[in-house]
Amino acid sequence: MMDGFGFPSSAGHFRFRGELKAVTKSVGNLRSSISVLDLGSGMGFWTEYFAQRFARVVSVEASPTLYESLRQRSSSYPNVTPVNDDALSFKPPGKFGLVFLGGLLMYLNDKDVRTLLGNLTSCLEPDGLILCRESTIRQGTQTLQGDYQVVYRSVETYEKVFADAGFDLLSVQANIAYIYPQMACELVKKWKAHVPERLVCLPVVGRFIYWGLRLGYPWNAEVIPRLLDGMGYAFPKLTNHFFVLRPSSPTPANGRADATLRHSHHGPEVKEGTR
Ligand SMILES: C[S@@+](CC[C@H](N)C(=O)[O-])C[C@H]1O[C@@H](n2cnc3c(N)ncnc32)[C@H](O)[C@@H]1O
Repeated sequence: MMDGFGFPSSAGHFRFRGELKAVTKSVGNLRSSISVLDLGSGMGFWTEYFAQRFARVVSVEASPTLYESLRQRSSSYPNVTPVNDDALSFKPPGKFGLVFLGGLLMYLNDKDVRTLLGNLTSCLEPDGLILCRESTIRQGTQTLQGDYQVVYRSVETYEKVFADAGFDLLSVQANIAYIYPQMACELVKKWKAHVPERLVCLPVVGRFIYWGLRLGYPWNAEVIPRLLDGMGYAFPKLTNHFFVLRPSSPTPANGRADATLRHSHHGPEVKEGTR
């Protein structure tokens, strides 16, 4: 996401550390004895974190190149099983207390998301959770074709997709650590679009924009989009959210679902509210 923008090499690490805080909060109550299924694990940064925190991790990555990096990264963790497979056809071995989908759903259409989530229901422990981290847009669904094929969905669209797949949404939380570099990326893109190529000077301008925004982190990643929203300007266009799900409990006889939705689209704190 951040390559080719002139950002400092520490930018990726800074984002990961920020996301780590949010993930740690979400998985904080889970027993350390559980198994974790990391689907679409990429090079295995999260796999490594889960391996240190939980008893067993099974990580599935479809790309042979990324799988090789995953295999190397996890080689010093005997509790990690790296698998080179398609998450849709993979048959999870055993029961899992946590399934992590870190940016996988945007590569799947709605039908495949439902299939995947349906398959996961049977491998979750009774109190098991699914934690998703997904790129989001403000409204509806946007499908990109061509070299980079992805489906960007709004939070509301995800809510519907999850409900259709038989899941309750326990919380939604804006991923501030992602939104801030995304703002920098979009500003750099605008700069490149409006300035002659010989004047672009990315190593200087990219760093200037990155550090300028980082000075106000984390509040600016919340306040700037909100202010601009109020003026009718969507910035950044792409956002990112954490979603915590669990299989829907059967609706009680009186017809009222007892699930309470803890919901915060924009702020870092999860707030209570009812659906
Ligand atoms: C956005 S990356 C995120 C990687 C990692 N979860 C992280 O958060 O750093 C999504 C990953 O999912 C993998 N992926 C996409 N479709 C997949 C599928 N059907 N089965 C397994 N992996 C898949 C991609 O190769 C990529 O590594």
